[in-house]
Amino acid sequence: MALFTVDPKKCQRDGLCLAECPGLLIEIIGEEGFPQPIAEAETLCINCGHCVSVCPHGALSLKTMTPKDCLPVHKELDLSPEQCEHFLRSRRSIRSYKKKPVPRDLLTRIIEIARYAPTGANTQPVHWLVIEDTKEVRRLAGLVTDWLRSLLQERTEYFLSMRMDRIVKAWDEGIDRICRNAPHLIVAHGLSTLTATQSSCTIALSYLELVATSFGLGTCWAGYFNNAANSYPPLLEALALPQDHLPYGAMMIGYPKYRYQRMPLRNKPMITWR
Ligand SMILES: Cc1cc2nc3c(=O)[nH]c(=O)nc-3n(C[C@H](O)[C@H](O)[C@H](O)COP(=O)(O)O)c2cc1C
Repeated sequence: MALFTVDPKKCQRDGLCLAECPGLLIEIIGEEGFPQPIAEAETLCINCGHCVSVCPHGALSLKTMTPKDCLPVHKELDLSPEQCEHFLRSRRSIRSYKKKPVPRDLLTRIIEIARYAPTGANTQPVHWLVIEDTKEVRRLAGLVTDWLRSLLQERTEYFLSMRMDRIVKAWDEGIDRICRNAPHLIVAHGLSTLTATQSSCTIALSYLELVATSFGLGTCWAGYFNNAANSYPPLLEALALPQDHLPYGAMMIGYPKYRYQRMPLRNKPMITWR
């Protein structure tokens, strides 16, 4: 079966699929002027679906997706610039969580949406490890503290500059400043041998954070956790990721205990115009 087929009754020969194919894999040949895949298309196609998505007539079907498989885009659901600004500026990192678990269905739903984040060459390399069990989140946070204790002995510059002794002290007093008593932790991981994995994981987690906010959930990047997971073998082992995978970001998630009232100030953007 060809990479894609075109329904001649629907195709208006407007060339949109050709213009939007990121790999220039579509050409018009023959007198009838219908789009066709170039010779190498099969091997070069990244399966992004833009050709199916852009066609106003639903004329083009990839082997992997037909117009009917793809949800329609609803213009009336577009965010206004004001809504977008309010949403993005009012999101906060949440560090106090209710002692209430997030249903698995909801965690699944936000991951399902976050997977629409852009990925390098549409490789979709992001894997999700959901630490659903709150006791396990605490156990892993304990391993991060073990790592911090080992740094305390070495008194590395990083440790001292971040005043990590205070984090260890808090842990010893029963305060979790690693995962902030969040009920769950989500780790994005993937093949370390793929160049796009790291940035794709970061972007996917950024999407996850925004999606979670829209569902009334709170999140916070777990930076100490992720640094430890990449530096402290006992934590990496505890994550039991597949071979050649690395963790590229972790996020606490749960129901926020408090509601923020104002948008804090941020630095002016540092822009260079050329
Ligand atoms: C890569 C990264 C790592 C972070 N790690 C932590 C962390 O370990 N603990 C924490 O409380 N906040 C962490 N944060 C949250 C930042 O402190 C927070 O984004 C920043 O203070 C701005 O606040 P806002 O997110 O509410 O705008 C991290 C954020 C990023 C982007």
